[in-house]
Amino acid sequence: MKSKVSRLRHKIKRLETLINTSMVFSGILDIDELLDTVMQKAEEVMDAEASSVFRIDERRKDLYFITARGEKGKEAKEIRVPMGKGIVGWVAKHGKPLLVPDVRKDRRWFRGVDEKTKWVTRSIVAVPLIVKGKVIGVAEVLNKKRGRHFDKGDLELFAALGNQIAIAVENASLYSDLDNLFLSSIRAIVEAVDAKDPYTRGHSGRVVEYALMIGHAVTRSKEKLKEIEISSILHDVGKIGIPDRILGKPGRLTRREERYMERHPEFSAAIIEPIEMLKKLTANILHHHERLDGDGYPSGLRGKEIPFVARIICVADAFDAMTTDRPYRRRRSRKAAFQELKRHSGTQFDARLVNILIREIKKQQLA
Ligand SMILES: [Fe+2]
Repeated sequence: MKSKVSRLRHKIKRLETLINTSMVFSGILDIDELLDTVMQKAEEVMDAEASSVFRIDERRKDLYFITARGEKGKEAKEIRVPMGKGIVGWVAKHGKPLLVPDVRKDRRWFRGVDEKTKWVTRSIVAVPLIVKGKVIGVAEVLNKKRGRHFDKGDLELFAALGNQIAIAVENASLYSDLDNLFLSSIRAIVEAVDAKDPYTRGHSGRVVEYALMIGHAVTRSKEKLKEIEISSILHDVGKIGIPDRILGKPGRLTRREERYMERHPEFSAAIIEPIEMLKKLTANILHHHERLDGDGYPSGLRGKEIPFVARIICVADAFDAMTTDRPYRRRRSRKAAFQELKRHSGTQFDARLVNILIREIKKQQLA
């Protein structure tokens, strides 16, 4: 008996460590990714075929899937479960864990989800997710592998996990609220800066769009894509420090004015640097006007010395500048801008990134 308890403790300990580690590594950037990792570990330790996490919708008085793993996960995600209905609804309503070794023998069992997804549920362990005394959702694991059924030991183990999962869900949703707030504040500031100069209105937004086209072609990492997005939104924020008479000058700039204008990446970097969440983007922003041959500014970096994201912004930025009207010249056609980017590939621009942008824009035109 003693060894069974200690085995269980050992299992819980191991799982807690795994979950904590995965939370730290994921940086809780993305709720789907985080929960998927947490539930994958839970399935491993519980020896389960599938798992789901539900969140309660207080307004609609029902539950919706935030994670549905397993063969039929995708289909399941469309379904909503009324409060109080089925095993999950019962757990949400009563705030208590529930072991159902054989669903066919339980009156509470609601076969709606199985009917829609063609999945066969045999046994379930479900636990409430409680944050500060309030039930916010339910987590469940389905079907113990090799035709076995879940037992009391499994219930104990999963109940212990419930707290970890609840924290993960709560943190991730707090994070995503904060993240949305943060992004919309940044966008508002940048729009205000863009608006200082009527010719660059909407510029930062379009640079983000082009930079992300390149981004999606080179990486799948959500974190990297976020880095590209925020860096490109903010690349010109330092223009706030450039006097309106230079920024909005209808003719060509004098050499002196130009030199002042060329300080905007430094101003952008100086704005970003003190903000803890943005600090690591400073180099991407500071170097978005460097050239591969070292003739750019502010540091004259060459080739791979220029941060990858800065090279992406550089191409996206140049393309938008060429294809929009400026005080001293009319916009060029896309075709002419492509030629210009190509002509300066290898000296000013990263040739690979130029090719990717051209390819992606052409693809979109065809679509
Ligand atoms: Fe710039």
